Amino acid sequence: METIQEQETMVSLPRIGDRAPKFKATTTQGEVNFPEDYKGKWVILFSHPADFTPVCTSEFMTFAHLESKFAKANCELIGLSIDGLYSHIAWLRTIKEKIEFKGMKNIEVKFPLIEDITMNVAKKYGMIQPGESETQAVRAVFFIDPKGIVRALIYYPLSLGRNFDELYRALIAMQTSDKFAVATPADWNPGDDVIISPAGSCNVAEERMTSKDGLTCEDWFFCTKKLDKNTILSKILKN
Ligand code: BEZ
Repeated sequence: METIQEQETMVSLPRIGDRAPKFKATTTQGEVNFPEDYKGKWVILFSHPADFTPVCTSEFMTFAHLESKFAKANCELIGLSIDGLYSHIAWLRTIKEKIEFKGMKNIEVKFPLIEDITMNVAKKYGMIQPGESETQAVRAVFFIDPKGIVRALIYYPLSLGRNFDELYRALIAMQTSDKFAVATPADWNPGDDVIISPAGSCNVAEERMTSKDGLTCEDWFFCTKKLDKNTILSKILKN
């Protein structure tokens, strides 16, 4: 019989703003001590249902193909499934040697893939969602910032491959918000106007509506300004 504390651990789901749960794990790139090993970096920690499955294979090839693009934005990738290390190794070798997807071939997955047969990490991160599967992780994506704080999470069901443009867009949007103290509107991409924080007083609301000051205000609570794409990317991306 589990204690209440143990039951809570089993169903824990980190929320936005929480400290990312710690873990030590065996991966295809050696031991990982998380989040200590990743201080100062953004991390996308993601789960997939199983090795040797087609949707997961297409996702891994895409992640591996984009790894250097994420690294330029100071973001490391870590994968996880409830499979053992030797299954992971065999699957990654098969991907490299045999699989072609959307013009990608000979793809080597160099980022760590966690073995999690015990479901220790998957349970800490709410990656097992029994209504979907009791034995396979759903397609969870955690964005964890350089201070080890969970900044965003996205969950997809087993049958649905992730949209990698959106994962990259979300990463750059959060980094832009941090660097420039702005918010980003629907479907924002670098170069689009950004949103400035809402007026916090009647005086500021009045100023927003009267002074131009580089702002465009639809109304006192909805003001945008230009933020040049090159300005953003030069501050965010490594050379
Ligand atoms: C897949 O990756 O192809 C997959 C995995 C689990 C369930 C359905 C599809």
